[in-house]
Amino acid sequence: MPLFRKKTPEPELPAVLPEHLAIIMDGNGRWAKKRGLPRRVGHSYGAQTFRTITKHCEKRGIRYLTVYAFSTENWKRPAEEVEAIMNLLRDYLKESLADFQKENIRTHFIGSFEPLADDIRRLMREAEAVTEHKTGMTLNIAINYGGREEIAHAARCLAEDVQAGRLHPETIDEKMLARRMYTAGQPDPDLILRPSGEYRTSNFMLWQSAYAEYIFMDVLWPDFKPADLDAALAEYARRNRRFGGV
Ligand code: IPE
Ligand code: IPE
Ligand code: MG
Repeated sequence: MPLFRKKTPEPELPAVLPEHLAIIMDGNGRWAKKRGLPRRVGHSYGAQTFRTITKHCEKRGIRYLTVYAFSTENWKRPAEEVEAIMNLLRDYLKESLADFQKENIRTHFIGSFEPLADDIRRLMREAEAVTEHKTGMTLNIAINYGGREEIAHAARCLAEDVQAGRLHPETIDEKMLARRMYTAGQPDPDLILRPSGEYRTSNFMLWQSAYAEYIFMDVLWPDFKPADLDAALAEYARRNRRFGGV
């Protein structure tokens, strides 16, 4: 045995990083099915991947990370599966509240929260409050999130302002809408990653994705490793973004 084991060299970091990375955490159910396990076990492994990848994104210097955890359409799933996902969320929130001092991450939730259990909503508010002053990465967790619901919500906000006489309809522009999205004040995602081999957005960040780069990967989310993220970042750095210009 060699006296000194050589450390695996860190991959060369790409010159251009996405300032805002968004991930559709997909493939938990298929991962479980392949192993003859209940879907909830896949979600539990997926939750572990989420923890690992969040830390890795921070280490790589990502400023904003958005993860799609539960969509407005996911309520269609069997009650038992929805409950398992909610329990994982509850566990994560309790754990992050206990550990928040160790991390420099600002947690923010995006979505419509009325249908969620009261204790989960309270934990979410607490997690936001205790991390508000953090200066590191901003982590947006999308829960009961739907891109169309978000746009409808922004439209309602504008309508209320018009009705109250605070706003004239002719002055409504893109910036005003953006300020009423759940990501107000944040840059749009530069890169949207979807593992699991599906090639669709599934109602994710419809407004914000106008000029996002997409990377679809074949790996199922519970199998997703920091090296997969590094590969996606390297691919992103090779993209030529033109934003309609030349
Ligand atoms: C993503 O994994 C997690 C959620 C949607 C909550 P899925 O549960 O969609 O896994 P697949 O797509 O069925 O494999
Ligand atoms: C999108 O995945 C939602 C999340 C990952 C939270 P889905 O698994 O719900 O999307 P579809 O049904 O394959 O389009
Ligand atoms: Mg899925």
